[in-house]
Amino acid sequence: MPKDFLWGGAVAAHQLEGAWQAGGKGVSIADVMTAGRNGVPRKVTDGVKDGEIYPNHWGDDFYHRYPEDVKLFEEMGFKCFRTSIAWTRIFPNGDEDEPNEAGLKFYDDLFDDLLAHGIQPVITLSHFEIPYHLVKEYGGFSNRKMIDFFLRFAKTVFKRYKDKVKYWMTFNEINNQTAWDDPHPLLQNSGLQLDKDDNWEQAMYQAAHYELVASALAVQAGHEINPDFQIGCMIAMCPIYPLTAKPEDVMMAERAMQKRYWFGDVHCWGEYPKWLPKYFDQKGFDMDITAADLAALKAGTVDYVGFSYYMSFVTKGQTGDTKYDFKEPEDFVENPYVEKSDWGWQIDPVGLRYSMNWMQDRWHLPQFIVENGFGAYDEKQADGSVHDDYRISYFRDHIKAMEEAVNLDGVDLIGYTPWGCIDLVSASTGEMAKRYGFIYVDADDNGEGSFDRSKKDSFDWYKQVIASDGEDL
Ligand code: BG6
Repeated sequence: MPKDFLWGGAVAAHQLEGAWQAGGKGVSIADVMTAGRNGVPRKVTDGVKDGEIYPNHWGDDFYHRYPEDVKLFEEMGFKCFRTSIAWTRIFPNGDEDEPNEAGLKFYDDLFDDLLAHGIQPVITLSHFEIPYHLVKEYGGFSNRKMIDFFLRFAKTVFKRYKDKVKYWMTFNEINNQTAWDDPHPLLQNSGLQLDKDDNWEQAMYQAAHYELVASALAVQAGHEINPDFQIGCMIAMCPIYPLTAKPEDVMMAERAMQKRYWFGDVHCWGEYPKWLPKYFDQKGFDMDITAADLAALKAGTVDYVGFSYYMSFVTKGQTGDTKYDFKEPEDFVENPYVEKSDWGWQIDPVGLRYSMNWMQDRWHLPQFIVENGFGAYDEKQADGSVHDDYRISYFRDHIKAMEEAVNLDGVDLIGYTPWGCIDLVSASTGEMAKRYGFIYVDADDNGEGSFDRSKKDSFDWYKQVIASDGEDL
């Protein structure tokens, strides 16, 4: 792999830290989402309610146990560790003038510990953990004021950690809200809680616009604070293929890609793609996009493309339907050529190589794979071992595809951080049973267990991958 390649692992604060009220932390949207299961959606409650189970309240107790975890990361050979800064540890309600020192201190200690073990932190600013107060009082990113709240948070942490963190990302999987009538992504990404009569699709585009402006302003502010900062976007990359070579299928897939990846166009080009203003007109959307916003977008393009890759999708068109008004998830169809995980996620390593080529050709920026991984039911044996050969096989195929994209296709890649390098609470289902880690955490869906850490078979396998710089798969 390229010189100084950043092998590592990735998590998000709300999914593993727990300690949801420690050090004056405020309530985030993750704190009002209950436990779900495979096929059973999480509920969002109106505040924290007695009798409900909120798995993010304990996560895997990383807040108290991180020194032990950092040692395990070092043993695997991590060069970097991607996590997020919980906005509510720094600004508990989100609209305070002054930050919470105890929250800042926690991340100082964590980053110092990582650096002392030769691991550089890679930080996402907003990873599904918007302060709940901003949702209730301001309507989340339906409100332009959110730009200022986000910017204050971003500038605070940029200044505080300017000598400890080089790689940043603004909004995690900003494009995960394209299924605009699904309330969970709208809440997790944008803090939107809409009424039945609201125009949900327009609300999604409007919120995303404010986020993109907030991101662009943060990029500019970050570069002023430290010109060496590398500030990226974070895109959920799931390429959408045409089902067949039928021209209508191909056109539908093209529109599907446009609808899912225009966020990246704005982040990387600093401008909207041509089709989108036309689409707003066709839909009659009255968007609040000012000349100052457009100037900010142009001046705040990102330094690199951070992205997650788990799966690919497929769509098809209809003969005679010239609108191609692709909509997720209704217009997805099964891919007959790939296998699926127990959660129905399509396993497609070639799709990773395809995506990397597609993004390189479109955005011309370095890339950073900041999530990739396999959620599975792991079985702990009586002797404590976990034989997760299915996970090793997933990683082997994806790392191979990644190496082909770099070494055969010339994609410019900064690093690779597998998701959930230590078991944590699933974002979509709120369960612990969907495990991703190289490190097993002894906790169940109800937060019962010792929370002790142990190594799965994949731990030693990934260690050898890093030690051989991706040679020994
Ligand atoms: C991404 C998110 O969507 O995928 C993570 O950035 C999430 O927060 C990961 O955990 C895996 O999804 P899930 O739903 O299996 O946890």
